[in-house]
Amino acid sequence: MHQVRYKLDENSPIPLYYQLKEIMRDYIMEAGLKPGDRFPSERELIKRFPVSRMTLRQALNELVSEGLLVRKRGRGTFVAPGKMLQGLHSLTSFSEDMYSRGLTPSSRILSVTTTRAGQTIAAKLDLPYEAELIRIERLRLADGTPMALETSHLEARRFRKLQELLGDKSSLYSILRRHFGVKFARAEETLEAVAAKSREASLLDIEKGAPVLFRERITYEEGGNPVEYVQSLYRADRYKFRVELVL
Ligand code: GLP
Repeated sequence: MHQVRYKLDENSPIPLYYQLKEIMRDYIMEAGLKPGDRFPSERELIKRFPVSRMTLRQALNELVSEGLLVRKRGRGTFVAPGKMLQGLHSLTSFSEDMYSRGLTPSSRILSVTTTRAGQTIAAKLDLPYEAELIRIERLRLADGTPMALETSHLEARRFRKLQELLGDKSSLYSILRRHFGVKFARAEETLEAVAAKSREASLLDIEKGAPVLFRERITYEEGGNPVEYVQSLYRADRYKFRVELVL
């Protein structure tokens, strides 16, 4: 089994099966498994993770019902077809997007600060005016090339430990899932074209005034609570989005 970087945390309030499920989700992504690739057997997984067979099965069953893995009778568990390639219609993280393109994601964390929510962000995150927020500004890279600048806002009271957990190689979404038990449900996103200002241009390694795509996203968890409000700038020379239209 390709090396797995993460360990289960027995003291966490997040159920072991859920932690394991999220570790396996990251494993599919980080090991670069493609549709049709074999997933490690229950025997291999038990060796690696000290959980009961029931816990392991619960984690695997959920990944199967989410459509990420498929079981083939007598042959084992495989990565499900088609799921790794996702368009604008699916709620994915930067890391997932990059891995699915065969690129290695990373970040340069530009700042992590606590601020107070103004009227606009408070309304977006459904928090009281002046609630304490964590603001994370990251330059996102793919194989070392700057792709996007992202500024995420999250409720400080709930995600206080985030600052210690977030590193250059980490995915914010997997940390939210694994350490805080967030179950993402959906997001609302808008896209508009703007011109890069000078600081943005120099971070993104493009000319000042070059076109960039400004994306705003509110991400909701199961139950309808908004968890994250993000403003991002994507390089228009490196990004193209695809949407499917149906009648
Ligand atoms: C995308 C979204 C952001 C989100 C990020 C998380 O880029 N536009 O809203 O914060 O993914 O990415 P990761 O989990 O790789 O840190």
